[in-house]
Order: sequence, then C-alpha cells, then structure tokens
Amino acid sequence: MPNAITMLKSDHATVKRLLRELDETTERAVKQRERLCAEIEREIKIHAQLEEELFYPTFLAAAEKRGGDDDLFYEATEEHHVVDMVLPALKAANPKSKEFGAKAKVLKDLVEHHIREEETEMFAQSRQLLDDSQLRELGDQMAARKETLVAMWTNPLLKPVKKLQSAAHKLMPTKVKNAKGAAIAAMRDDV
Ligand SMILES: [Fe+2]
Ligand SMILES: [Fe+2]
Repeated sequence: MPNAITMLKSDHATVKRLLRELDETTERAVKQRERLCAEIEREIKIHAQLEEELFYPTFLAAAEKRGGDDDLFYEATEEHHVVDMVLPALKAANPKSKEFGAKAKVLKDLVEHHIREEETEMFAQSRQLLDDSQLRELGDQMAARKETLVAMWTNPLLKPVKKLQSAAHKLMPTKVKNAKGAAIAAMRDDV
C-alpha cells in the first residue's frame, strides 16, 4: 500500500528534473524541447488531477476538522490555476524562440515554488492531521486513479474521455469534490 505523500513527492522529483532539463536547452534543441514539453505536460496534468481530486480535498476536510491551516488548500489550488495558464502558453510558443526559454524558466520557478510549499507546509501538516492508515488508504485510491489517468493519456482513443472528465471535475461543486476527502478524514474519529 503506497503512502499518498511518498507518491506525490516522487512525482515532484520527476517533474523538477524534467523542468531543469528543459531550462538547460537552447533554441537549437527543438526536438528535445518538444519532447520535454510533452513529458512535463503529462506529468503535471496527471499529478495536479490526483491532488485536486483526492489529496487536497482530504487535506481540507482534515484541516477543517482538526484546526489545520485550510488557507494552504486555497493557495495551492490557485497556484494550480496559474500553472494551467503558463503551461498552454509554453506549448504555444515557438521552441526556436527566446520567448520559449523565458516561459520554460517561469514555469520551472513557479512549479518549484509550489512544490516547496506543498512539501514543507501542506504535506508536513498532513502528516499530523492524518495517520498512517489514512495516508495509505489515500495512497491506494490515488494509485488506482493514476493508473486510469495514465492509460487515458497514453491511449489516444480515450483522450476525449479524459478531457471531459477533467472539465467535469473543474465544474463540480467543491462540496461534491470534497466528499471523498471527508470520508478519509472521518476515518480517524478518535482525535
Ligand atoms: Fe500541487
Ligand atoms: Fe504536488
């Protein structure tokens, strides 16, 4: 059974490495820039969806229940929105241009900042708000969901389904979105 935080931290390491690699490329490495850009998009989208569907709602429910800092949930969600704006701008930029390099650097700084805050604040608090069995239960749900998301990303026939699901998730009322999280947070009624 995977621990939710360990899973997310391992994704963080991957995306940080890819963003560093992209930042080191020049305008001449067009193919490499395109490849890295596609990999980064896939890593970020799947990771953000796992956090938004499962990890963040569980954190929020636990924070509300046990007096944690729920501002961390709202800040992290807003940072995801900013990434959602910078990523398409990078994809649309010409890899032969200086602008592409500048956008890659901005995305790297943004993601590194977001990761640092998640790891030092939200994850650190989650370890106090949730016990080991809750983190493992959440990890199980995330691992299953990740499998589906990766399959959708890899299979072009499933791509429209993925787009639809992701759009539906964004439109879903926060209450519904957070129901799963509340269920895991409620596993520990002893505190
Ligand atoms: Fe995040
Ligand atoms: Fe994250």
